[in-house]
Amino acid sequence: MGAEPRLPAPRTPDPRQAPALRWGVIAPGNIAEGFAAAVASGTRGAVVAAGSRDLERARAFTARHGGGTAYGSYEEVVADPAVDAVYVASPHSHHLEHALLAVEAGKPVLVEKAFTRNAGEARRLLAAAEARGSFVLEAMWSRFLPHYDVVRQAVGSGLLGELVEVSADHGQGLHPDGPERLARPDLAGGALLDLGIYPLSFAAMLLGQVDSVVAAGTLTELGVDASDSVTLTDSAGALARIGTTMRAPTQCRASVVGTLARLEIERTFYQPTTVRLVDRHGHVLDRFDGGLSDGVAGLSFEAAEVARCLAAGVRESPLLPWSQTVRIMELMDEVRRQVGVRYPGE
Ligand SMILES: NC(=O)c1ccc[n+]([C@@H]2O[C@H](COP(=O)([O-])OP(=O)(O)OC[C@H]3O[C@@H](n4cnc5c(N)ncnc54)[C@H](OP(=O)(O)O)[C@@H]3O)[C@@H](O)[C@H]2O)c1
Repeated sequence: MGAEPRLPAPRTPDPRQAPALRWGVIAPGNIAEGFAAAVASGTRGAVVAAGSRDLERARAFTARHGGGTAYGSYEEVVADPAVDAVYVASPHSHHLEHALLAVEAGKPVLVEKAFTRNAGEARRLLAAAEARGSFVLEAMWSRFLPHYDVVRQAVGSGLLGELVEVSADHGQGLHPDGPERLARPDLAGGALLDLGIYPLSFAAMLLGQVDSVVAAGTLTELGVDASDSVTLTDSAGALARIGTTMRAPTQCRASVVGTLARLEIERTFYQPTTVRLVDRHGHVLDRFDGGLSDGVAGLSFEAAEVARCLAAGVRESPLLPWSQTVRIMELMDEVRRQVGVRYPGE
């Protein structure tokens, strides 16, 4: 008898080993708080500047995060020679405009997910980056976590056999009593771009070429999606079943099922968490403990990935290349087309 299959070890470097980077933050809202805290506590870098539409808000933000320069505009952040890289954390509707500021100023940029409102905007931004030779990365931070690397290797090495099914869900109770941003069509709100993108991006990382997308959804009175159910099929016959809602918290688990074994990824699947390798008889063969679910600390991994990519002189991360970012936007465009969500001006 051969040795029992084991999970591969993650290849993810310690974020503290990445070169120090001086960050400029555009749009210091909710997630920018988490990002700045993660940069300070989990990397050798620092937030050295922040720009808000309101100078007082920028001042309060920099005071909380190490005392960098506060600006009353986004333009001033990208023009600051002390800023090595820019982090854009505005609503989806404004990512193109704000990331272009950085690209046109010749600054590398990390753009919050969803990258843009749609695939057309994503292509425009990446074409500008291509023309300038600039670095751009979608801030789908989970991609850079150690347990995602365990999953990628387990699937890529054939440990699970042939891929049969990926399933993942992401629901949070953010509507109608949550942030206004998610309810507003003009800010490109809805469950898919905010929450559904996590399971969708996870599935896109593992599936081959997606041949079919079948989606159903329910809309709010203002016409953004409240809940979506999506099935993807790839050219090899693997399926992905994806659920998302902003109306209630769901389990937020994932599984990756192959003909020989499956991976069970604990709640919250897109944050640092546990992965179990389970055989066809339901026996747990191995487990990887990715740590406690701590979303904020996990953001240090994307910041470190940017620092490593810049040190290596590359324009895109091999863990989330531009082509994948565009592909994910195309999948979301197709889901929105099927469920009937159009943002103003599209
Ligand atoms: N990685 C994660 O875990 C995570 C978690 C939550 C959200 N996100 C993503 O991060 C982005 C921001 O989300 P958030 O929850 O941080 O939003 P938020 O708290 O509303 O902050 C967004 C900021 O954008 C700025 N802004 C610029 N133009 C705006 C406009 N027309 N309307 C409203 N705000 C505008 C505002 O800053 P100033 O007015 O001060 O300039 C605002 O504070 C989204 O892409 C979201 O999907 C990521």
